Amino acid sequence: MGKNKLARFKEIRMFKNVFEPDNHEARSGNYFMKGNWKQDYYKNKNPLVIELGCGKGEYSVGLARKFPEKNFLGVDIKGARMWCGAKTAIDENIINLAFLRTWIEMIKSFFGQEEVDEIWITFPDPQEKKRRKKKRLTATGFLNSYRSFLIDNGIIHLKTDNDLLYNYTLSVINFNNLELVYKTSNIHKTDPDDELLQIKTHYEQLFLKENKNINYLKFKLPKDKQIIEPLD
Ligand SMILES: C[S@@+](CC[C@H](N)C(=O)[O-])C[C@H]1O[C@@H](n2cnc3c(N)ncnc32)[C@H](O)[C@@H]1O
Repeated sequence: MGKNKLARFKEIRMFKNVFEPDNHEARSGNYFMKGNWKQDYYKNKNPLVIELGCGKGEYSVGLARKFPEKNFLGVDIKGARMWCGAKTAIDENIINLAFLRTWIEMIKSFFGQEEVDEIWITFPDPQEKKRRKKKRLTATGFLNSYRSFLIDNGIIHLKTDNDLLYNYTLSVINFNNLELVYKTSNIHKTDPDDELLQIKTHYEQLFLKENKNINYLKFKLPKDKQIIEPLD
């Protein structure tokens, strides 16, 4: 492991805006912050927005700067990447932003019913191989786990360079009659002035250099509807 990475791992443990549950806490399903994020961390009742697979946290930082009246939480398993966003939040005194280091497979352990208002999924690993389909962060197993903590008809945003993941997610939306709020297969062509969509993550910048189109989907997830995998 590089020196820099080691130093970041050490430093991040001291950051008050980073939560690093151990395996036991993550598996127990009963993390001490579950149901208590707004009251105990943000000290308000504002909406809570989470970003899954936040990497270096550019989106969470960008959103938190724009919307001080909302709470934000970036989630990723990679601490050295998360360090960047957490450090920026500390340096800029962005008090409506925190980070949670965990596997998204365990995400249900960390939030109570209807504790989360909105989810952003930014440039997730596309898991293109058919046998890896279940690992896509918009696969039905994940969507059903998000239902356990998202408000009824809570919004999910997906930004991806990957056309297969975009089309797969559209097929899940259509097959389950979910409400599609907006879709575009080329954000920078269709929505160049949309401040929200123009926040660029580390990966987005790399994909743009390769001249890739950036897809975006915004849809609603009903709380009481079991989401079913579309037929191939
Ligand atoms: C391609 S990167 C994108 C990072 C960031 N959103 C961006 O756009 O720059 C995918 C991120 O998702 C995280 N990730 C992938 N699968 C995960 C999982 N199952 N649990 C937690 N994090 C995961 C990786 O650690 C990585 O930081």
